[in-house]
Amino acid sequence: MSTDTLTIATQPVAKSRISELDFNNIEFGKIFSDHMLVADYKNGEWQNPEIVPYGNMSLSPATSAIHYGQAIFEGMKAYRGINGDILLFRPYDNYKRLNISGARMCMPELPEDIFMQGLEQLLRIDAAWVPPTAGSALYIRPFIFATDDFIGVRPSSNYRFSIFSCPVASYYSAPLRVAIETKYVRSAEGGAGYAKAAGNYGAAMYPARQMQEKGYHQLIWTDHKEHKYIEESGTMNVMFVIDGVLVTPAVSSTILSGITRDSVLTLARDMGYKVEERRVSVDEIVAAHKAGKLQEAFGTGTAATIAQIATINYNGEDLELPAVEDREISNKVAETLDNIKTGQAPDPYNWVQKI
Ligand code: COI
Repeated sequence: MSTDTLTIATQPVAKSRISELDFNNIEFGKIFSDHMLVADYKNGEWQNPEIVPYGNMSLSPATSAIHYGQAIFEGMKAYRGINGDILLFRPYDNYKRLNISGARMCMPELPEDIFMQGLEQLLRIDAAWVPPTAGSALYIRPFIFATDDFIGVRPSSNYRFSIFSCPVASYYSAPLRVAIETKYVRSAEGGAGYAKAAGNYGAAMYPARQMQEKGYHQLIWTDHKEHKYIEESGTMNVMFVIDGVLVTPAVSSTILSGITRDSVLTLARDMGYKVEERRVSVDEIVAAHKAGKLQEAFGTGTAATIAQIATINYNGEDLELPAVEDREISNKVAETLDNIKTGQAPDPYNWVQKI
């Protein structure tokens, strides 16, 4: 990591909006903290990182990201530690993944100092926005989009990088009803499924809405060739406990390499559980459920954290899973992960960065 200090001009707000926020009643993604970071890529280089008041950006109607979807993002969180510290969780992993997504979307690499130092300075100035309430966090949204005002189809020559943040509580408030998708696909081999590209989310909305109209919160994607193997869920990776073994689809070109996913697998292994990253077929899940061996199912993601799945629908049948309080692995891992994020448990992998 770079150690040189970058100059980041800062225009602080005249008056903070924080008094508008009730930390005990936070709706996900609706209230944004006072400042944002912006930097532009022009004339072949990233330049002028600045912290400015959170606000609208003025764009040409021809801005190429709007038309062709050359846009990527990340999601990360900062927590209030037990002694009041501000603790960022695995920020460098988000930085690396942003550039992996950027390479797939033909974008210039973002320098580490703009991301890491910009993020730190943004968090320092908006420190009061990190919720003091248990179960809440400051959700941080870094993103890059193409800014050429040109409607020919080609990679843009100009880009904007920005980070803003918003205090959040849980993304999902109750155990989820999910349905296995066997018609639409999220991603195919050779596509951009592993990238956190805006279009992956936009294209998923129509199939997700079909499922929501049938009473499910989210869908679980299957592979594009046969609809036989589980991929991931709408906003998260997905995991199962089958007969005491934690099983999850191996990451591939079609699956996002989740940072929470990796954290959960690492902790589960450290706790002595057997973990398998491999292809997981829908038939295996259905058979395990029939045999009474499907003990747990849950999603993992930055926003979702560990989101318990109560019901899995497949081909019109609802498979009901054991009660959440009986789920040993996900509950134990979730507790340890929360304790690491808030500085209450040892952090053997240096995942937490104090601001
Ligand atoms: C996240 O978990 O941070 C995500 O990016 C998922 C989301 C689209 C809310």
